[in-house]
Amino acid sequence: MALPRLLITRRLPTTVEQHLDAHFDTTFNPDDTPLDRDQLAQAMRDYDALCPTITDRLDADILGIADARVRIIANFGAGVDHVDLAAARGAGIVVTNTPDVLTDATAELAILLMLSAARRAGEGERVLRAGEWSGWTPTNLIGQSIVGKTLGLVGFGRIAQMTAERARAGFGMKIAYFSRRRISAEIEAKLDARYVPSLEALATEADILSLHTPGGAETHHMIDAALLARMKPGAILVNTARGTVVDEAALAEALATGRIAAAGLDVYEKEPQVHPALLERDNAVLLPHLGSATIETRVAMGMRAAANLESFFDGREPRDRVA
Ligand code: 8YV
Repeated sequence: MALPRLLITRRLPTTVEQHLDAHFDTTFNPDDTPLDRDQLAQAMRDYDALCPTITDRLDADILGIADARVRIIANFGAGVDHVDLAAARGAGIVVTNTPDVLTDATAELAILLMLSAARRAGEGERVLRAGEWSGWTPTNLIGQSIVGKTLGLVGFGRIAQMTAERARAGFGMKIAYFSRRRISAEIEAKLDARYVPSLEALATEADILSLHTPGGAETHHMIDAALLARMKPGAILVNTARGTVVDEAALAEALATGRIAAAGLDVYEKEPQVHPALLERDNAVLLPHLGSATIETRVAMGMRAAANLESFFDGREPRDRVA
């Protein structure tokens, strides 16, 4: 029997590509250029399965294409806000993601951003590389410690919980969180995590506010000028979730006026564009969406997407079905 036709839209780690190639009639994207809308639409007609990433916008028009052949979209990534899940359901297309395997890597990056923003690491490196470091002084580039501070987590899924665990174990941080659903008393006790019933109240008390919600319409600009105005003057905002959760113009303004002390960002409203006003801010640590960028995690993400595809074509329910 012919193998299912699979399109992998971007380059993946070699072991993953080899694995998928052994199981499917696989097409790769050798020069790794993001596909445009026409190419995505054509792919919907030509393949049984797609393995896309965050750079592929699979909206209702593309998913609803009349002569589609695609039956499963096995997303390489946990977040699926770039896929219109309702449209996929309507078109009878199964969608899967890759949760769990990027929890460690993304929590690690949240801690990195907290430390970098608090200790002014990006600023320091820029000064040094520009040849502007004239030597040690008692007052040069003084930052703040994160030890013992209050970490406010917005959203309390796997990545937020892992961030809490690391922040508590490594830095003795106090954990407070806000999310739509309060989590179990067992997990709260294990992480010594205190539930705060509103985002506004959490923003008011957090020394570091770290975002861990999904993207999409529900969380769009959840962090806006009004919310930033509630934060402590010395506070730090960290975003490893989705850029759309933050009003970037309002954040740039809050950083420019010293309304908050610093921000550590890994995600942006219009990737790969970064708001020009943020680029001007020395107190913004800006990373290029590196949350899951470890070799361990990227291989595990690929293998998880492969397992979902294999289950589907073996007639079993894929483990990570989201639509
Ligand atoms: C991924 C991410 O690298 O998985 C996610 O939700 O944000 C990233 O870490 C990217 O989305 C891959 O599609």
